[in-house]
Amino acid sequence: MTAQLPDSRIAATNENWWRDAVIYQIYIRSFADGDGDGIGDLAGIRSKLPYLLDLGVDAVWITPWYPSPMADGGYDVADYRDIEKLFGDLDQADAFIAEAHAHGIRVILDVVPNHTSDAHAWFVAARDKGIGAPERDLYWFRPAKADGSPPTNWPSMFGGPGWKQLPEDVAALAEAGEGQHADYYLHLFAPEQPDLNWANEDVHDDLEATLRFWFDKGVDGFRIDVAHGMVKDPALPDLPVGDESHLLNADTSHDHPFWDQPGVHDIYRRWRKIADSYEDSQQGKRIFVAEAWVREPERLAHYVRPDELHTTFNFAFLSCAWNADAFRDVIDEQVETLEVVGAPVTWVVSNHDVIRHRTRYGRAIGEERKGAGTVATDLELGLTRARAMVLFMLALPGSAYIYQGEELGLPEVEDLPEDVLADPTWLRTNHEHRGRDGCRVPIPWTTGGTALGFGPADSTPWLPQPASFGELSVEAQSKDPGSTLRLYKDALAIRRQRPELGDGPMDWLVNDENDVLEFSRSDEFVCVVNFGSTTATLPPHRTVLLASAEITGDVLPANSSAWLEI
Ligand code: NOJ
Repeated sequence: MTAQLPDSRIAATNENWWRDAVIYQIYIRSFADGDGDGIGDLAGIRSKLPYLLDLGVDAVWITPWYPSPMADGGYDVADYRDIEKLFGDLDQADAFIAEAHAHGIRVILDVVPNHTSDAHAWFVAARDKGIGAPERDLYWFRPAKADGSPPTNWPSMFGGPGWKQLPEDVAALAEAGEGQHADYYLHLFAPEQPDLNWANEDVHDDLEATLRFWFDKGVDGFRIDVAHGMVKDPALPDLPVGDESHLLNADTSHDHPFWDQPGVHDIYRRWRKIADSYEDSQQGKRIFVAEAWVREPERLAHYVRPDELHTTFNFAFLSCAWNADAFRDVIDEQVETLEVVGAPVTWVVSNHDVIRHRTRYGRAIGEERKGAGTVATDLELGLTRARAMVLFMLALPGSAYIYQGEELGLPEVEDLPEDVLADPTWLRTNHEHRGRDGCRVPIPWTTGGTALGFGPADSTPWLPQPASFGELSVEAQSKDPGSTLRLYKDALAIRRQRPELGDGPMDWLVNDENDVLEFSRSDEFVCVVNFGSTTATLPPHRTVLLASAEITGDVLPANSSAWLEI
């Protein structure tokens, strides 16, 4: 039973809340461990709601919390309408949603519609009912080529081929002795993540029932996993030899057989109607944010047309090198293109799939995303720039995402012992790429203790935290007025007080310094970012509202930013 809870504080005073919300991403396994099994959970998140309230975010996005064998950290969903035992249960989810709302924090879930887990009842039936069973039409089972090779050369995003034969089928055919090749099923990610066939109406019905199930429970929206991948070209053409368009943020502007197929937009028109049907005076709009790695802004804008999704992550911003001109181009391109369809831009620099930006910004241009230990990294420079970035990002028009731990300035953990690595990339590339575990190391809440406050005393976090995390902990930084945590809190507090910092116009201002960007959000507010490696002079102003580095006189240090009242 759900406990008696205070009333919701998210009453729809602002129906456009989603256009400039600051949304905090919780990677549930690594946020806070309430029961001491070393894995983050709902009890942990509930205990940290006061922290999130104090930080000043508007909403949380929670990575998949559904039952899952965890072949890909929960992005292999076995049941879309329940909670993974490691994380809690449905009663706790209900209580959490109500408590978050009571704190004035909205809740966005992660829906994974491109693939299920191979432990999902549908795939289990497809496998068990055998070759040719109608249940297989929910997935992409296709015949092998004449020589027994997979139907296409499509790769898995985690390495190796994107098709697999079921050992059960192979054994059955061998027993029958007919020399036939078994069918393959498609998995653009791990083999434990078979791709769903969105040409089958049952897939639509079931995923729509899932959206309704959680909307009925009061959630405020969904982040859509692999939102650009659900529809495949049924002709199954091979990719050109040497094509790298499967890689994140690659150019997919040509007709691509599995990314950004036009059919995905029909799905989103249906989903939008469902979300709109839940809009009410209590909660306002329920929204979607697309994880669509589509590089061309015009094509990305299709996802956020008025009858489709509300927002889409701006990965061009995340991927941008530390350079004033490059950022200005990305911003102009995104703002202008999305304006045409009336959608706000979302700003994001880190998430659970990419090297933490403190580490990326500490590297030479072009080397930001290279593998652990292969390139020189200056973590002090990275932190200086990461601090400048948060003021830059939070001053831009639109909504912004903060990935758990970035408010502490956590770096990527690049030296995790090999035997703890859990990302499927590590296995599927024969240990060539370590994968994404380095940005998923559990959050340090306290300066000391066995799990640095991530779990109860003597619990062992599922990934070890480096000793250096203690001094970056919430406890350590809460006491330090110059800390990165304090900078985030101050920035979020100012953003709340100044409505011009949300949705609305921005104007670039002329600045004669090299590598400096300056823009205004109103007659009174200016943001200046110095991307250069030498100091810059601040423009005339009344007050420095906030700065990422110490300001003396009118001097803005290298790699830093300031919010000015003019
Ligand atoms: C994107 C998610 O963010 C990532 O973590 C996951 O591995 C893939 N989609 C597959 O679901």
